[in-house]
Amino acid sequence: MPITVLIGVQWGDEGKGKIIDVLTENADVVVRFQGGNNAGHTVEIGKKKFVLHLIPSGIFRKKATCIIGNGVVVDPLALEHEIKDLERQGIRIGSRLQLSTRSHLIFAYHRMMDAMHEGSRSEGKKIGTTKRGIGPAYADKMSRIGIRALEMLDQKRLEKNFKEHAKYYNTIFKAAKMETVDINAEWKKISAAAKFLAKYVTDTVVTVNEAATKKKNILFEGAQGMWLDVDYGTYPFVTSSNTTTGGACTGSGLSPKYIDNVVGVIKAYTTRVGEGPFPTELNDKIGEQIRATGREFGATTGRPRRCGWFDAISSRYSCMVNGVDRLAVTKLDVLDMLPEIKICTAYKINGKKTNAMPSDTEEITAAVPIYETMPGWCQTTSHARSFKALPKNAQKYLKRISELTKTKIGIISVGPNRDQTFHI
Ligand code: GDP
Ligand code: IMO
Ligand code: MG
Repeated sequence: MPITVLIGVQWGDEGKGKIIDVLTENADVVVRFQGGNNAGHTVEIGKKKFVLHLIPSGIFRKKATCIIGNGVVVDPLALEHEIKDLERQGIRIGSRLQLSTRSHLIFAYHRMMDAMHEGSRSEGKKIGTTKRGIGPAYADKMSRIGIRALEMLDQKRLEKNFKEHAKYYNTIFKAAKMETVDINAEWKKISAAAKFLAKYVTDTVVTVNEAATKKKNILFEGAQGMWLDVDYGTYPFVTSSNTTTGGACTGSGLSPKYIDNVVGVIKAYTTRVGEGPFPTELNDKIGEQIRATGREFGATTGRPRRCGWFDAISSRYSCMVNGVDRLAVTKLDVLDMLPEIKICTAYKINGKKTNAMPSDTEEITAAVPIYETMPGWCQTTSHARSFKALPKNAQKYLKRISELTKTKIGIISVGPNRDQTFHI
């Protein structure tokens, strides 16, 4: 593995949690570097199913140190809840979890601002956020008024700053005739969470760099996906962080010179949660069938995911931006019973055919997909454990994905469980 960055190639929910869990068998350190508890990463081990939001998916491997890096925005109440919940289910966390001193904190007023912004956006402009306060917390960070995890080590300082900020936000809520933050009640919860979390707070930049110089195996766990990246995604229908490979360095404090490998997780079809363009979306029976078979409902918000065909145009661009060395193709089994499968190989935009990915989200919205149709395999793949064991048409489909994205496939996943995975 040496030092690997794993990212989502599409709009999130590609199955990153599952692939990370598989890859971390040999990992010494697993690092989350961006996003917050907007993420929902599912790991199924035997009959048990876990959904992680902030804690890296390496937590199920006893050897791995799990780091929440400086690029992550952390809701202290959510993190406390997640740790306690995992421990209740028998997962020992202890000193294996580290939280960066420099990560920024999310408070109630961020969640409320998130809801307020969404509420005030007109139809067509709504982002469909997870309402976890992610955007407002990153906005505070960039406005240089954020509160960082290191302040949890000093209750007096945290109290002063939290109350000052909450008062400031309450003036905005009052002016908008909205409910305000109950500052004292909220402080009680934060104070308790800060006391609980203090033992995890440390300078994780040092941990990551020491591990890198000792040639340990490090896995960077991306959240969301390339098309939700604030720079490269379908702006403004994106999240507020860099979900792409570069984010692993800025979000952890490790120099790019150490990165050996990039794994891009990609579904055998496409899904999206929330608003924004999605050229290959299927608003028909096939879309419903994929949603039902793939159990495509948000791991964080429970919202039904929008489903559609594989989009080679956006996926190729994503592989380029992320420098993907190997793809991990997930959920191949979900397509098992479809007699025909389509791949988008070009867009028609304002009457013109193109295979270039537009920068302009309005053009992506206007894009009409041009499809290539491939025969399905109409057989179960969930028992396959090698490329050769897959039906011929499934092999052809995967080869075509690799050809169109100009990227080799390294891993195939044919079911949610750990063992339903193989390398090629
Ligand atoms: P993440 O956010 O990228 O970690 O993905 P999610 O956990 O939000 O969503 C992926 C869903 O697909 C989860 O319910 C996984 O258990 C499930 N999953 C992952 N890989 C496979 C697969 O190969 N086949 C099937 N059927 N389900 C899978
Ligand atoms: P994982 O890590 C899918 C989407 C939201 C919304 C947009 C902005 O599980 O792949 P935000 O709350 O971040 O401000 O919302 O981003 N979104 C995700 N979609 N998977 C995720 O995470 C997501 N995290 C955010 O639905 O459209
Ligand atoms: Mg998810």
